Amino acid sequence: MDALEILSSPITWAVTVGTLYIFYRYVTSTFNYFSDQGISGPKPMPFFGNMWGIWKSNLSEYDMSLVKKHGKVFGYYDGPQPNLWITDLELIKAIFVKDFDHFVDRRTFNFKTKIVRKWLTVVKGKEWKDIRSSVTPAFTTGKIKRMSLLIKECVEILSIRISAVAQSEGKMNAKLIYGAFTMDVIARCAFGLKIDSLGNKDDPFIKNAQFIFNPPTSKTPLILLPCSRWQNGADVVTRGDKRNCDRPVINVVTFQKSTLFLLAGFDQTATTLTNTCFQLARNPDIQEKLHETILQKLEDYVCHIFEDVCHEMVQDMPYLEQIIQEVLRFYPASLRTERMCTKDISYDHGGGRIHIKKGVLVTVPIYAVHHSEEYYPDPETFDPERWNPENKVKRNPYSFMAFGAGPRNCIGMRFAMEELKFAITALVKQFRFFPVEETPEKLRFDVGFQPALQPMNAILGIELRQPN
Ligand code: HEM
Repeated sequence: MDALEILSSPITWAVTVGTLYIFYRYVTSTFNYFSDQGISGPKPMPFFGNMWGIWKSNLSEYDMSLVKKHGKVFGYYDGPQPNLWITDLELIKAIFVKDFDHFVDRRTFNFKTKIVRKWLTVVKGKEWKDIRSSVTPAFTTGKIKRMSLLIKECVEILSIRISAVAQSEGKMNAKLIYGAFTMDVIARCAFGLKIDSLGNKDDPFIKNAQFIFNPPTSKTPLILLPCSRWQNGADVVTRGDKRNCDRPVINVVTFQKSTLFLLAGFDQTATTLTNTCFQLARNPDIQEKLHETILQKLEDYVCHIFEDVCHEMVQDMPYLEQIIQEVLRFYPASLRTERMCTKDISYDHGGGRIHIKKGVLVTVPIYAVHHSEEYYPDPETFDPERWNPENKVKRNPYSFMAFGAGPRNCIGMRFAMEELKFAITALVKQFRFFPVEETPEKLRFDVGFQPALQPMNAILGIELRQPN
């Protein structure tokens, strides 16, 4: 039999069609998981589930449109993996807090490197519990207060840098400068390194860390492969560099803790700082009110003697806190968070019952929760007054998910808030932010499957304030 005969044989065709059919059934075998329960959702396609095209989408808009179309609870497929999307606050509370022992984990990634496999964000079950309880003491009030001294040193360098920019160009690329600043803070607090991040963009420490947060794969279908390239970048960073290692690491003693600091905090804090300054530039009345509050607090606190900002002062600035909370509502740096079901459970919902089996994912699209008209009337208006005590108390706390919720929420929340408060106070005290020609009317964010919001073209005018 020659090749042509084999190809034209009915048996060959029958075997091929049969194999393709079995394969098709296999790759779509999970796709009735939600429909069998009467849970609606977008129609999945073989191999990709609902993820086709995600690498060229703007994730915040993508999530908003899904929630708008399919409601507070719907079924989605990450490839073949069933993923229940929820913006219902009672369900969020049940899954993230009340029934946490059914939802301890996040999804499984097949990481190659030993270090990444141990990161707190990805470890599972008992291993997560053990690592979380060993890392938690790094974030006590006392430790954060001690770290604030290092943060302050970095803020001083940042101020010098911005002052030079204000006097030369009069405008700055906020994300670039703040990315270098938050890298500097991490290098000092976690690695005991003094890096010249503000002066040298080619520093390998910075380049490698930036690669992790904006990997080339985020804009291609390769993102659907279980993350691979960026793990290598992570290894390069965590191997570190011994230059300028003249300061002891004050509170981070294990390698796990150091990598945790670097990878979890750097980008989201820089993004939040960028977004805050953008909103201050676009809302001069809010910026001036904050400036007056800062001057008043400097009068009230002992740190005024040193003409300086201190831990106690930044902890006692409710208006600053309101602004940061509104920034994190408006632009949650993490767009989504998730849990993986570790023990079967079911819930009453919408007159029916939702069964969540072990292995099923649950996703909270944070951006969509924060921009829901129901939870935040007029959600596209930036308004720090939403967070004054009178308004805040009326709101369900699970409508604010910027740092997640429950026992597996963001462990670095207080550290991030300290860093943000120090930087914003010191900057608004000395400088005025304002829009220039290049400043967009509304901030736009990069497309691709980014783990966090990536602001684009955040060019802001900057000028030194005259001393009072
Ligand atoms: C504005 C800055 C930050 C934002 C918006 C943010 C947001 C988040 C969110 C939404 C989660 C998921 C929580 C959940 O699933 O319930 C998370 C987890 C985490 N964050 Fe942050 N984060 C920030 C800064 C930091 C910093 C500075 C650090 C470290 C110093 C950090 C360390 C972590 C870690 C380790 C986890 C995983 C916790 C676990 O799985 O137990 N984050 N963060």
